[in-house]
Amino acid sequence: MSKAIIITGGAGFIGSHVVRLFVKKYPGYKIINVDALTYAGNLENLRDIEKSSNYFFEKANILNKEELDKIFKLYQPDAIIHLAAESHVDRSILSPMDFVYTNVIGTVNLLNAAKDAWAGNYHEKLFYHISTDEVFGSLGEKGFFTESTPYAPNSPYSASKASSDHFVRAYGETFSLPVIISNCSNNYGPNQFPEKLIPLFINNIVLGKPLPVYGDGLYTRDWLYVKDHALAIDNIFQKGEKGETYNIGGGNEWKNIDLVKMLCRLMDEKLKKKSGNSEQLISYIKDRPGHDRRYAIDASKINKELGWKPSVTFEQGLSETIDWYLENKEWLEHVTSGEYRKYYEGQYG
Ligand code: NAD
Ligand code: TYD
Repeated sequence: MSKAIIITGGAGFIGSHVVRLFVKKYPGYKIINVDALTYAGNLENLRDIEKSSNYFFEKANILNKEELDKIFKLYQPDAIIHLAAESHVDRSILSPMDFVYTNVIGTVNLLNAAKDAWAGNYHEKLFYHISTDEVFGSLGEKGFFTESTPYAPNSPYSASKASSDHFVRAYGETFSLPVIISNCSNNYGPNQFPEKLIPLFINNIVLGKPLPVYGDGLYTRDWLYVKDHALAIDNIFQKGEKGETYNIGGGNEWKNIDLVKMLCRLMDEKLKKKSGNSEQLISYIKDRPGHDRRYAIDASKINKELGWKPSVTFEQGLSETIDWYLENKEWLEHVTSGEYRKYYEGQYG
């Protein structure tokens, strides 16, 4: 069946994997990547598919309703998969308003654009909002986030995502907009901007720079390979029930320090360094304010109802990720120039 699908944030980390998957898997769909190309958006991520006849790119900011209206008029989309966001917790502490603008107001703009364009004709339409497990706040030693865990966001980032989730839900309830939300755990993989833990540390090991571990390093995250997240998004897009929310997770909990030590070991092997070499770079630094202690997802709903589960082990995924960064030094140089350097100096001194 032919469809037109707008994917926002398609030049970013997760968005580029979703765009690639959809462009390749659905040659009959028009895939329209709408992205403002902020510091985190990089069209180099999509070089391999940019010439595909079913791929379209529109540089637009989701804060600009007029531009969104034009794009909706031009492509007449059947569905939106919304990933565009400010996505980094540390930046949200430095500059919360950017998160309010893009994540909250931008999302409401997009909801309005879809509502206006579809004008009550919601047959076969879908507004699919991509969110995070961080909206649920922090877990203690035990337990998991389920779809019914109450929201308790602790950072400006998670508060802005929680707010956007509430607006999406409210447009479903109030205007009958066909909406789905998924909340995913921490992603890792190729093309992730090197401000997030795993790519930052890979890059710092290559450069022989300190590995800044926040606080006691005993914070826990549930890591999922980005290509498995993209597959989950496809699964939910095709089979998810409108009005529902789905948790997506790796069933793969790691304390930061254990993860960093494993990364160091793998890097020593790959860079043919003496064992223990990279670990010497570990440097405990001041904690992140409002730092959530533990995230862990109960993904049994998507598993039982839609048949999705992660396909890649952590060792496999991490090894592939390291290889990708080592083989794509040019990509890393391009994204770490300019604005990122200023951020890095401000954040880590
Ligand atoms: P990212 O920061 O790598 O990419 C965000 C993309 O959005 C970039 O291409 C950027 O140019 C674009 N963008 C930002 N502001 C925009 C605006 N105002 N208008 C149009 N485009 C804009 O983010 P990511 O890590 O790929 O995350 C994508 C989505 O997935 C986000 O909504 C995030 O909250 C969610 N998510 C991320 C993770 C994770 O671990 N990275 C986990 C769960 C959910
Ligand atoms: P991050 O990749 O920023 O993802 P999130 O905050 O969304 O979970 O961080 C993952 C974990 O790593 C988190 O507990 C914070 C920690 N961290 C560090 O210890 N040092 C760092 O330099 C960064 C970026 C993160």
